[in-house]
Amino acid sequence: MKICVIGTGYVGLVTAAVFSHLGYKVTGLDIDKSKINQLKKGKLTIYEPGLKELVTKNLANNRLSFTTDYKQAVKDSQLIFICVGTPAKKDGSYDPKFVFSATKAVAKQLNHYAVIIIKSTVPPSTTEAVKDIIQAHAQTKFDVASVPEFLREGSAVNDALHPSRVIIGVNSNKAEALLRQVHKKLKAPFLTTTPQSAQLTKYASNAMLATRISFINAMAILCDKVGADIQAVAQGLGLDPRIGQSFLQPGLGYGGSCFPKDTWALIAFAKKLGYDFDFLKQVDQVNTDQIDYFISKIKSAYSGSLKGKILTILGLAFKPNTDDMREARSIPLIKKLQKLGVIIYAYDPVAMPNAKKILKNVKFFTDPYLALINSDGLVIATEWQEFKDLNLKKIKRAMKAPNIFDGRNLYHPPTIKKLGFKYFAIGC
Ligand code: UGA
Repeated sequence: MKICVIGTGYVGLVTAAVFSHLGYKVTGLDIDKSKINQLKKGKLTIYEPGLKELVTKNLANNRLSFTTDYKQAVKDSQLIFICVGTPAKKDGSYDPKFVFSATKAVAKQLNHYAVIIIKSTVPPSTTEAVKDIIQAHAQTKFDVASVPEFLREGSAVNDALHPSRVIIGVNSNKAEALLRQVHKKLKAPFLTTTPQSAQLTKYASNAMLATRISFINAMAILCDKVGADIQAVAQGLGLDPRIGQSFLQPGLGYGGSCFPKDTWALIAFAKKLGYDFDFLKQVDQVNTDQIDYFISKIKSAYSGSLKGKILTILGLAFKPNTDDMREARSIPLIKKLQKLGVIIYAYDPVAMPNAKKILKNVKFFTDPYLALINSDGLVIATEWQEFKDLNLKKIKRAMKAPNIFDGRNLYHPPTIKKLGFKYFAIGC
């Protein structure tokens, strides 16, 4: 079976690499020529553990190829996955322009039966629109399906190879059979439903996870007020098998290319349908407010004024093991601190090239120890393991004032305090 994957971002590239790894012949397409030229040489434009190895191996054995040519990509492909970006518009709703332009380009080359699968995160109304576009440009039978992606950046390859579930949203038996066949090597529960339900499952999953994060962050504020420990509360809460431990890690809130955008899109989609999704708006609001809450903690350490203080931000990426800066919590944190007159020093193991494009007037360092010389405070914004392993005694000697503001509850409070640091974390 020949597969074509449109879009070589995180989802598209991982999808293409994983299907080629499973033994299928896959063509990855992107309209970005320089990206495709790099990929043809096995060079990745994103940082994702394990992905380069998979791409290189499958390029070498000719199961994976890349092109910018729709004719070449669509030719003989029975399954065509659309994995292009769905950016947010100003009002929070999703912008379908890339999904629609990719669909049109595919349809123009389609002269055989194929299943067009939307993997991009889109609201249910998209399926009909995609069908209409294909019908307008192709003279052949086709099916449109939705198989949402649940992979996480930083562990994308592993998530794609060992998915928690495969949701097949489809209205045709023929398309369902093909999709079951192509996923059959993945040991995961299958759920067949309509494309609309599949798409809403994806939004519901991300909205639920975002809700858990905002919930635990709100509980952390209560913990601070009464001197309780949110880590203990989260652990105790998660021991209830109906609740579970995951996504109850308090911190600066959620970022990335998915949770913020998808919650906004769901709120906007609900509004269009005449439903005020106020509940989810509050989830988003708690996430926004978390930065101000953290800054109020920083202020308290310096008797209110931050003007002229040097703060060293360790971690810029939206989470560890990625270079992705999209909606990273470090961005509003740094911008707000700068407005208060703080001088920002920063270090991230891999995200600095991307961060430099976004953050201005920041002094970037190639080493965390250098970034802490003369600093008035260490701020953890992303919980990289590298920061957990730092020599804190060495750091204390280098800093002007031994303050740690731990926005990800990375450290063990008693250990840090024993070393003589003033330690501020979230909810403990
Ligand atoms: C998320 C989902 O976890 C994936 O299942 C989904 O496929 C993906 O979005 C998507 O829609 O494409 P991702 O954005 O890669 O994946 O990152 P997560 O690991 O979910 O983390 C998102 C944010 O939440 C990060 O900023 C992280 O720091 C934060 N987070 C996560 C917390 O603050 N607390 C937690 O307990 C967990």
